[in-house]
Amino acid sequence: MNYKKCIVVVLLLSCSILASSNFENSIKRAGLKALPTSTEAINKLIDPNKVLTPKRIALGKQLYFDTRLSKDQSISCASCHDLSQGGADGLSVSIGINAMKHPSHINTPTVYNAVLFERQFWDGRSPNLEDQAKGPILAHFEMGMTEALTVERINSVPEYVTSFQEAYGKDVDINFDQIAIAIAAFERTLITPSRFDDFLNGQKDALNEEEKEGLSIFIDRGCINCHTGVAIGGSMQPFAIANEFKFKDVGDFKGDEFGLVKVPSLRNVTLNSPYFHNGTVVELKDAIKEMSRIQLSVTEIKDSDIDSLIKFFHALEGRKPDIKQPTLPK
Ligand code: HEC
Ligand code: HEC
Repeated sequence: MNYKKCIVVVLLLSCSILASSNFENSIKRAGLKALPTSTEAINKLIDPNKVLTPKRIALGKQLYFDTRLSKDQSISCASCHDLSQGGADGLSVSIGINAMKHPSHINTPTVYNAVLFERQFWDGRSPNLEDQAKGPILAHFEMGMTEALTVERINSVPEYVTSFQEAYGKDVDINFDQIAIAIAAFERTLITPSRFDDFLNGQKDALNEEEKEGLSIFIDRGCINCHTGVAIGGSMQPFAIANEFKFKDVGDFKGDEFGLVKVPSLRNVTLNSPYFHNGTVVELKDAIKEMSRIQLSVTEIKDSDIDSLIKFFHALEGRKPDIKQPTLPK
């Protein structure tokens, strides 16, 4: 190799090293973090009072799949939050007992990674999973129970009583709060590490070039400003700030008292069509277009950018924990 060629090669090499370290810095600055996988690491992220044990998780899983938690014993949490799919139901509007549609035309969000959200529900009215789980049990258009009926039903099943005692101590009072705490213990295990996390953990080839391009666009365009943190969503943010949402008149949801909306996690977003709080957008590419237009005032996002973003979103499809239906108490 002659002298000039040598200089060119050295220059090219240092450019590509610089470019890749810039990229890594921009990922760090954006605050992106890999999902933890070990139970100890997950426990560190959460309230110590809610530490998980195998018995608590197994009990919570049974309750999650048990239709006894609905008035006519026809549906369970799993009916609307299908763990074999993306953790939701694939419907535009959720359907509860007696085929009742959500009165505000609300779309079911995913339970996967919900433990990492700052707030629960589209309007963020609940602070955590333990509190959230009580909502659907009592809503007349979801599971239609009362607190008293829930407590009576669970306490009438000897195997549940034993399981609660084994999981939470023999003096446990199996009241409504305690039942919700048990369900939440299972939900806390519903995290789905993906190739994106492998990439953040240092496995450079876990994302291909197109997916990395999508990630760059995601950061550079400012999607990351709202779809933030380890859940890539889960905080309360303004909605339709640059333009009006095309389907704002479907249902009567207006966000919280300040008009803020809980940002959906984009983990497993490819599996969770239809999109938005009222489930009005079926195609992911249309959701991205609408987001660009109404949040970022970008009316003409390039098709190739949308393709790259979708490729990146596929890399967020996570590995699911064991999702087989458990054997329920007799
Ligand atoms: C009839 C369908 C249905 C059933 C049954 C149901 N959910 Fe939901 N779930 C929804 C809908 C719809 C929402 C959004 C409601 C809202 O934001 O007001 C939701 C919200 C949630 C959220 C908040 C997620 C987020 O992104 O904010 C969690 C967690 C959750 N449900 C867990 C459960 C658990 C646990 C059960 C069983 C006790 C359950 N759900 C039963 C439909 C259902
Ligand atoms: C200003 C904050 C903000 C910005 C910036 C933003 N989003 Fe969103 N995004 C939201 C909120 C809030 C929602 C939920 C709105 C609703 O349904 O009412 C949402 C919903 C979505 C959804 C639908 C997810 C679902 O499960 O329903 C997708 C997809 C999405 N955003 C992608 C993007 C992309 C791609 C970008 C960048 C081009 C972006 N967002 C920029 C706040 C933001």
